[in-house]
Amino acid sequence: MALADYINNKPVIETNRLIIRPMTVSDVSALKKWMPDKSIYTYWGKGPSKAEMNPELLFEKQERPAKSFHLGIAEKNSNEVIGDLWVYLIENDRMAQVAIRLSKEKHGKGYGTEALSAMTRFCFENTELQRLWTQVDVRNTGSVKMLEKCGYSKEGLIRQGKMVNTWCDYYVYGILASDIQQHTNSGLLRS
Ligand SMILES: CC(C)(COP(=O)(O)OP(=O)(O)OC[C@H]1O[C@@H](n2cnc3c(N)ncnc32)[C@H](O)[C@@H]1OP(=O)(O)O)[C@@H](O)C(=O)NCCC(=O)NCCS
Repeated sequence: MALADYINNKPVIETNRLIIRPMTVSDVSALKKWMPDKSIYTYWGKGPSKAEMNPELLFEKQERPAKSFHLGIAEKNSNEVIGDLWVYLIENDRMAQVAIRLSKEKHGKGYGTEALSAMTRFCFENTELQRLWTQVDVRNTGSVKMLEKCGYSKEGLIRQGKMVNTWCDYYVYGILASDIQQHTNSGLLRS
């Protein structure tokens, strides 16, 4: 299956503690608790948008067809959405970018590593995707550690480049389908 096929048929991915799933209007009250929190946007490349300040707006318009998909990250025990992630800029079903964020209250519990590992595995095991990559502000220590724990490699440093809407030093991190077996053997990317 091509990754783009999942845009209209979004996957549900289960890990030990999390369910990565499409979001609905019933998730708005959970989103309101963390999505407008400016502190999670420090290294995000832009501040919260109008819809991120008012998450009900996310569900008012029908999602536009795009080369991306966006999923919520819910805690299994409560089904409450505590974060979200994107696989986006899907190019020729071969390469795509990832982004992830979590409620501040949930940082440092291993959830970021658990969700990103699972999403990464899902993409490589179920689709023809060959490469996932992301940009990360060099000051974003938590994200750098999470990416490395998920088996992503630091591929380069861009000095004072444009990351979304900000100018900063950022790393490019990437992982290939062919890296997966190696990481599985070494214990990385275990969900
Ligand atoms: C990036 C993010 C998703 C990481 O999620 P998380 O659940 O906190 O990460 P994990 O708990 O899996 O942590 C991974 C490692 O980073 C470490 N870490 C997490 N936050 C850290 C921080 N602020 N400073 C230093 N280390 C940190 C953890 O201790 C862990 O290392 P360890 O296993 O050696 O203890 C989360 O910090 C976040 O939502 N940030 C705001 C949005 C953002 O910047 N997203 C990334 C854009 S590229």
